[in-house]
Amino acid sequence: MSLDGPVLGVETSCDETGVALFDPRRGVLGERLHSQVALHAEYGGVVPELASRDHVRYLAPLIRSLLAECGVERPAGVAYTAGPGLAGALLVGASVASALAWAWEVPVVAVHHMEGHLLAPLLADDAPHFPFLALLVSGGHTQLVAVEGLGRYRILGETLDDAVGEAFDKVAKMLGLGYPGGPEVARLAEQGCPGRFRFPRPMVDRPGLDFSFSGLKTAVLNAVEVHGEDPRARADIAHAFQEAVVETLLVKCRRAVAATGMERLVVAGGVGANRRLREVLLAWGRQDGVGVFFPPPALCTDNGTMIAHVGALRLAAGERSGWAFTVRPRWPLSELAPPGGLAGC
Ligand code: KG4
Ligand code: ZN
Repeated sequence: MSLDGPVLGVETSCDETGVALFDPRRGVLGERLHSQVALHAEYGGVVPELASRDHVRYLAPLIRSLLAECGVERPAGVAYTAGPGLAGALLVGASVASALAWAWEVPVVAVHHMEGHLLAPLLADDAPHFPFLALLVSGGHTQLVAVEGLGRYRILGETLDDAVGEAFDKVAKMLGLGYPGGPEVARLAEQGCPGRFRFPRPMVDRPGLDFSFSGLKTAVLNAVEVHGEDPRARADIAHAFQEAVVETLLVKCRRAVAATGMERLVVAGGVGANRRLREVLLAWGRQDGVGVFFPPPALCTDNGTMIAHVGALRLAAGERSGWAFTVRPRWPLSELAPPGGLAGC
């Protein structure tokens, strides 16, 4: 089934209000992103109620200005993030997206946030083709996934406790850095010197593709308690922490490639914006003949484009969601299926 025109994507799962228009034939027509970082900064993390209210405030004006800029009056379909994420925040996007689709008399489809991240690398100029391995690293997820095609995902390994992004955020707090922590820790790490601290590479000496980051977090906490007063030491700790994370991810990616024989690895999710992770994985890929793909940094963190993109793929394949929408704050990626007719979410 072809889709005649652009799809409006709506992302409100957490602390970014993202909207975009994606046309299957012409690519990304436009996008808008409003970040709530300043709103949550004084609380040191996302306050769900404030997040929902801010989505309410910004979503409709963002959509209006996007449509006006792109000269689009009525998209061919609407896609919204239905989970995983914060229930109230998700409901804002689901309600507005469904109401607009109803008024425009166009189909609507519920999209899984992590599928948006997973397929965002397909939007890059040098897009990988199926099948590929994906390392999904965000604030809530750390997974290695075998991606055979749209909706055909096999989880090979995942974290047993904290997600990588979460570990970055917690370490940022320990080091007295702001929210969101990942970019702040990465910035401080660049000023640190190697060699002074060395933290464990969790679970690399055990077989399998699962991850665990809570032990590493405790090791960092112990170091901060002893040396945290010294700014030099804080930078060295951030450096050693980032090295431990990056090397752990490298070991597991290498192992996953060996186990599956896949020739391409895609890195997606917020932590995919980490410069050191990019550098190390790209160097390994060049050396071992593995194609390593990162989405452009702006598409690593949350955005409406990745939702419009997956929505367009699923709508074009005939999938539709009902008007009696529901959101799924917890929604395992493993429950996704290839596009089908009328889908619940
Ligand atoms: O994908 P994302 O924007 O939201 C979720 O779906 O979770 O990921 C956000 C996570 C946060 O934990 C943030 O600290 C982390 O990604 N992050 C980074 C970097 N940029 C964002 N972590 C390490 N280095 C970065 N440069
Ligand atoms: Zn995300």
